[in-house]
Amino acid sequence: MGNSDTGKKILVMHGPNLNTLGTREPEIYGSKTLDEINDDLKKQGKKLGIDVETFQSNHEGDIVDKIQASVGNIDAFIINPAAYTHTSIAIRDAVLLLEVPVIEIHLSNIYKREPFRHKSMVADVATGQIAGFGVSGYRMALDAAVDLMAS
Ligand code: DQA
Repeated sequence: MGNSDTGKKILVMHGPNLNTLGTREPEIYGSKTLDEINDDLKKQGKKLGIDVETFQSNHEGDIVDKIQASVGNIDAFIINPAAYTHTSIAIRDAVLLLEVPVIEIHLSNIYKREPFRHKSMVADVATGQIAGFGVSGYRMALDAAVDLMAS
């Protein structure tokens, strides 16, 4: 449990290459850096009395390890699995260990892009998905997580 008024904690996880946001294909992913996105989420969490932890890795096993370590310790989970969205059964299986609301988020609308991005391994084990709203999607995801934790 973190230092928050509600005692609730949300983990926001970012997959591979999202550490390069700001310079990576800005026409698709926007110009905000991951640090800026994370700072905004932490500020939003603070206002709501919720502890927001952020985590980014380029490594599938590290992502699986972190999800496993979060079982029983978080109240909601927000994940942009990035390219692993389309390939990782290991991340999907790890998500299934969580017994809390799970929100999948993508900056871009993956269904408007290349056919290999249309399939998400996580979509049917998530509570819901947000895609195509750029960085605003993270704020939406946090709002949705807060509502889901309350219900
Ligand atoms: C992404 C979409 C993925 O297809 C891609 O591999 C990413 C980012 C998004 O946020 O739009 O790295 O998850």
